[in-house]
Order: sequence, then structure tokens, then C-alpha cells
Amino acid sequence: MESWIWWFLMCWHLLILYFSPSHSLCHPHDSFALLQFKNSFTIKTSYHNYYCHPGYSKTTTWENGTDCCSWPGVTCHHISGHVTELDLTCSGLTGKIHPNSRLFHLSHLQSLNLAFNDFNQPQLSSLFGGFLSLTHLNLSGSNFEGEIPSQISHLSKLASLDFSNVFVRLTQLTTLSVLNNNLGGQIPSSLFGLTQLSDLDCSNNKLEGPLPNNITGFPILTRLSLLGNLLNGTISSWCLSLPSLVDLVLSKNQFRGLPEHISANSSHSLQSLHLSYNKLQGNIPESIFSFLNLTLLDLSSNNLRKVPILKFLDLCNNKLKGSVKLNQELSYLDLSFNSITGGISSSIYNASSINVLNLSHNKLTGIIPRCLANSSSLEVLDLQLNKLHGTLPSTFAKYCRLSTLDLNGNQLEGFLPESLSNCTSLEVLDLGNNQIKDIPNVIWKLLSLRGLNLSHNRLSGRIPKSIENLTKLESLDLSSNMLTGGIPTELSNLNFLEVLNLSNNHIG
Ligand SMILES: *[C@@H]1O[C@H](CO)[C@@H](O)[C@H](O)[C@H]1NC(C)=O
Ligand SMILES: *[C@@H]1O[C@H](CO)[C@@H](O)[C@H](O)[C@H]1NC(C)=O
Ligand SMILES: *[C@@H]1O[C@H](CO)[C@@H](O)[C@H](O)[C@H]1NC(C)=O
Ligand SMILES: *[C@@H]1O[C@H](CO)[C@@H](O)[C@H](O)[C@H]1NC(C)=O
Ligand SMILES: *[C@@H]1O[C@H](CO)[C@@H](O)[C@H](O)[C@H]1NC(C)=O
Ligand SMILES: *[C@@H]1O[C@H](CO)[C@@H](O)[C@H](O)[C@H]1NC(C)=O
Ligand SMILES: *[C@@H]1O[C@H](CO)[C@@H](O)[C@H](O)[C@H]1NC(C)=O
Ligand SMILES: *[C@@H]1O[C@H](CO)[C@@H](O)[C@H](O)[C@H]1NC(C)=O
Ligand SMILES: *[C@@H]1O[C@H](CO)[C@@H](O)[C@H](O)[C@H]1NC(C)=O
Ligand SMILES: *[C@@H]1O[C@H](CO)[C@@H](O)[C@H](O)[C@H]1NC(C)=O
Ligand SMILES: *[C@@H]1O[C@H](CO)[C@@H](O)[C@H](O)[C@H]1NC(C)=O
Ligand SMILES: *[C@@H]1O[C@H](CO)[C@@H](O)[C@H](O)[C@H]1NC(C)=O
Repeated sequence: MESWIWWFLMCWHLLILYFSPSHSLCHPHDSFALLQFKNSFTIKTSYHNYYCHPGYSKTTTWENGTDCCSWPGVTCHHISGHVTELDLTCSGLTGKIHPNSRLFHLSHLQSLNLAFNDFNQPQLSSLFGGFLSLTHLNLSGSNFEGEIPSQISHLSKLASLDFSNVFVRLTQLTTLSVLNNNLGGQIPSSLFGLTQLSDLDCSNNKLEGPLPNNITGFPILTRLSLLGNLLNGTISSWCLSLPSLVDLVLSKNQFRGLPEHISANSSHSLQSLHLSYNKLQGNIPESIFSFLNLTLLDLSSNNLRKVPILKFLDLCNNKLKGSVKLNQELSYLDLSFNSITGGISSSIYNASSINVLNLSHNKLTGIIPRCLANSSSLEVLDLQLNKLHGTLPSTFAKYCRLSTLDLNGNQLEGFLPESLSNCTSLEVLDLGNNQIKDIPNVIWKLLSLRGLNLSHNRLSGRIPKSIENLTKLESLDLSSNMLTGGIPTELSNLNFLEVLNLSNNHIG
């Protein structure tokens, strides 16, 4: 073959390779860096621990002149050919990672796994903080000692950081996120030496046992999340008195109790407290309301029985009934899915600041107090599935801001009050499964309604033509009543209607 033809074909082939979307040659800069990195270590393929198979290193087949994107452990960007992932788990790399290591030239790395090698290193290089695209860093079991450099906290995209089995004193670490891992066992005590932490997230692991109870560190911790673990016992009081804590998330664990005395040392900085989906039982301690800056309290899905009465600001006559100074900021209170008994008026906190009140799925009895309807702050009121009875209060005020009113599954009766038409922002009105007798005209003035449920009531008469005015309706459930007449043709004007249930009536 003429040599120019050979050259032409060769170049053509390379061009195709270069532009082919599914495969791109390794960037020469990265290829060089990888080989240098490999060559800076002794490969001890006999190095193994219980985790690794002896005698194997991913780097064995790395050779100069071949495409590094095809090397074991290496993943490249399909267009640029830059190395984006490097997984050298169990590769027998033995030696130190020096500051001039070519590893730090791989600036496109998103995931770096050096787990189970033997770096025998007194200090992890601060240059690890330079991998700005890194989302996953795994140094598990790789024999680093000493401190983790604070520069690691520059890795703002880091979603997973695994230092387990690494003996480190992370005293400079300000952010530690180990969420969505399989960390098991008790909370490692070394964690509590991390006095510079401001954000600690161990969500969705398998941590178990009780919280340690003698912690004094964490002076600047603002966020602590242990969501979704298997922690049990009583929630230690130290977590509730950390001086800088703003968000505390302990939901989805097996905690059984709250500390008896919170108020003396309660954190004044705490703004949101998530304790849902635990096994908290008995009475809600009064002191839970002693966090002065608390705006969100989620105690839903526990087994709580009583909301304290004494020291609450009674919503209805707005009188301070206790001696403790209570916070005035609470705007979100979720006590749903508990076993709370008693009437509402005596058990609701100063509602003049509350926007969202969820008491659904409890055992509340009595009537709905007037003051709830007269609240100028309430946007969401969910009382579904309780045992409330009587009529709806008659005084929904002019400044009613309700967008959701869910009273489904109670024993309410009578008519809906005229004043409900003051709640012009109402989008969801669910009165299903009660004993309401009539569709009052006011309903047709609630022009923002998207969902209306009056099913399983005692409605009679015809469906009024005025229904055409509820043009935003997406769901209309009037099933299981005693409605008569025909289906109004006006229904066809409701262009957003997705659910229409008129079953079990006497509509002809
Ligand atoms: C790879 O080979 C080229 C030429 O064959 C040489 O210039 C380069 O230094 C080699 N790279 C390494 C890392 O050995
Ligand atoms: C770190 O790497 C080891 C070994 O490959 C693996 O078992 C572990 O799950 C990794 N950790 C994370 C957080 O992915
Ligand atoms: C807490 O969890 C640990 C470990 O799962 C278990 O051994 C212990 O019995 C549990 N304690 C309680 C009070 O449930
Ligand atoms: C907490 O107390 C236990 C035993 O009472 C002790 O072993 C542990 O070192 C203490 N931890 C801290 C952080 O003080
Ligand atoms: C509250 O702080 C005092 C000292 O200010 C301390 O003696 C007490 O043990 C703390 N109580 C709790 C429950 O942490
Ligand atoms: C309470 O919150 C306010 C406003 O967010 C803040 O200025 C104040 O410092 C907080 N109090 C404490 C003790 O953190
Ligand atoms: C109830 O809360 C509001 C809003 O935070 C506040 O203005 C009012 O003073 C509180 N009522 C009492 C009696 O403290
Ligand atoms: C109230 O809480 C229940 C259960 O936690 C939830 O299903 C419901 O959506 C909440 N209500 C509102 C209006 O958000
Ligand atoms: C409703 O609230 C306003 C303002 O707080 C108050 O003046 C009025 O008396 C209340 N009305 C009823 C019926 O509670
Ligand atoms: C709306 O609220 C105002 C002020 O509270 C009240 O006077 C009026 O009667 C209410 N509207 C209806 C239809 O009840
Ligand atoms: C309306 O309420 C009834 C009774 O609780 C319930 O079965 C039904 O699913 C609700 N309809 C809609 C559309 O949510
Ligand atoms: C429905 O809307 C029409 C025109 O916008 C109005 O004249 C009528 O009074 C409304 N009906 C009701 C019940 O509000």
C-alpha cells in the first residue's frame, strides 16, 4: 500500500475515534498523570486485608501507549477524554502521596476511591481540597493518620466522604457529610473530637444504639442530621442545648423518649426540630416549647398522647397560663399520627404565629374552637381523622389566609358558615366523611378551590349550576350523599377537572 494511503486511513481512523460520542481517547495529560501516579508507588499485590483479594492490582495492566480510558479503574468523559472517575480500591498501592504527586493534576475528577491501599501517611495532603468537581471521596481503610486538612471542606460538591477505618483526628473539619452510606455500629466516639464542625450529616446510615450522653463539644455546630438510622434510647439533652444549633434532624430512628428537663439549657438558636417517625411515647414535655427561636416542630408519627396544657398560651383567650417564657415564633407544628386525646382549645400553642398546624390522625374530641377559624396566621389546618364534632365555627375572619382546610373523617354536622367565603385563598377543602347536611352557597364563592371533597356526608338536593364558577377545580368528590337531579352541564366548563366522583347518590 502506498504510504500516503496508509497515513490517510490512519488519520481518518483517529478522527473517527476522536469524534465518536461513545468512545474517546484518554487525554494525554491525564494519561501521563496516571502513569506517574502509579510509578510513585510500590505495588504490593500481596497487600490485603479481609476486604481485598490478594494478588490483584488494577494498575498492573496500565501501560504507556495504550488508551487510559480502557484501563481498569479509570472512567473518562466521553467527549473530552478527561479522567472523571478513579477507583483504585484494593490495588496494593504502597507509599506516600506527595504534594507534587501527579494525582493532583487530574482536575476533572468527580469520584476518587483509594480505599484499602497502604499510604501509611502521617497527614493527608491539603491538595485533596483542590479537586473542586469531586462528589465522592473514599479513603476508607487506606492507612491515613493525623488530621484531615480543612481544605477538604472546599469540596462543596462532595456528596459522600468515607473515612471509615481511617484513623484520623479530624480536628479541623468543619463539614462532615457521610449521608447515604452503610455506616453501622454505634456513633464513633472519635466524631466528638471534631470541635470545629459546623455541619454534621450522618443521614441514612445504619448507626445504632443510644446517643452518647456526655458530649460537651460542638460549640459551633449549626446543623446536625442523624435522620434515617437505627438510634434508640432517650434523646440526649446535650443535642438540645448545643449553643449554635439551628437545625436538628433526628427523624426516622427508634428514639423512645425526650429528656425530662430541656428548658434549663435549651438551645436558643434552634429553629427547626425534626423528631418524626420515632417511637416517642407518653406526654409531650412542656419544655419542648422552651426553645425561644423554634419555628418548626415536627413530632408526627410517634406515639405521643398528650400535649401539655398548663404552660400553653391558650389560643382562644390568648392568656399566658404558665410561668415559663414560651417562644413566640413557632410557625409550623406537626403533631399528626400520634395518639393525642382531648380538646383542641386547651392544647394548642399560641396560634397567632402558626402557619401550619397538623393534628391529623389523632384522637382529638370536642368542637373546633372559634379562635382557630378567626386566626389570621393559619394557612394550613389539618384536623382530618379525629373525633371532632359539632358545627364549624361561624367566624372565619376577613383576613382568613387558609389555603388548606382538611376536616375529613370527623363527626361534624350542620351547615358550613357564611363566613367561610372570607377564605378566598382556600384551595383545598376536604370535609369528606362527616355529617354535613347541605352544600351552602358560600362554597361557590371560593374561586381558588382546586380540590373539594364533600363525599360521605348527608347532602341532598341538586348540584347547583354555580359550580361553573369553580374554574380551577381539579378534583370534585360528592360521592355517597343523597344528591338528586341531573348532572349539571356546567360541569363541562371545568377544564382542569381530573377527578369527578358523583357515585352513590340519587342523580337521575
Ligand atoms: C510514555 O511514552 C512516551 C514516549 O514513548 C514518553 O515520552 C513518556 O515519558 C512516557 N510516559 C511515561 C509516564 O512514562
Ligand atoms: C468506599 O469503598 C469501599 C471499597 O470499594 C466500599 O466498600 C465502600 O462502600 C465505599 N464507600 C462509599 C461511601 O461509597
Ligand atoms: C438499642 O439498640 C441496640 C442495638 O441495636 C440494642 O442492643 C438495644 O437493646 C436497644 N435498646 C433499646 C432500649 O431498645
Ligand atoms: C463518655 O463516657 C464514657 C463512659 O462513661 C467514656 O468512656 C467516654 O470516653 C465519654 N466520652 C466523652 C466524649 O467524654
Ligand atoms: C444545664 O446546665 C447546667 C450548668 O449550666 C448543668 O449543671 C446541668 O447539668 C445542665 N443540664 C442538662 C440537662 O444538661
Ligand atoms: C434567634 O433568631 C434571631 C433571628 O433569626 C437571631 O437574630 C437571634 O440571634 C437568635 N437567637 C439566638 C440565641 O441564636
Ligand atoms: C402570640 O404570638 C404573636 C406573634 O408572635 C405575638 O405578637 C403575641 O404577643 C403572642 N401572644 C402572647 C399572649 O404572647
Ligand atoms: C399532615 O400530616 C399527615 C401525616 O404526617 C400528612 O399525610 C398530611 O399531608 C399533612 N397535612 C398537610 C396539609 O400537609
Ligand atoms: C377575631 O380576632 C380579632 C383579632 O384578633 C378579634 O378582635 C376578634 O374579637 C376575634 N373574633 C372572634 C369571634 O373571636
Ligand atoms: C368576613 O369577615 C368580616 C370581618 O371579620 C365579617 O364582618 C364578615 O361578616 C365576614 N364575611 C362573612 C360572609 O361572614
Ligand atoms: C374524599 O373523602 C372520602 C372520605 O374520606 C375519601 O374516601 C375519598 O378518597 C376522598 N376523595 C378524594 C378525591 O380524595
Ligand atoms: C358565578 O359567576 C357569575 C359570573 O361571574 C356570577 O354572576 C354569579 O353570581 C356567580 N355565582 C355565584 C354563586 O357566585
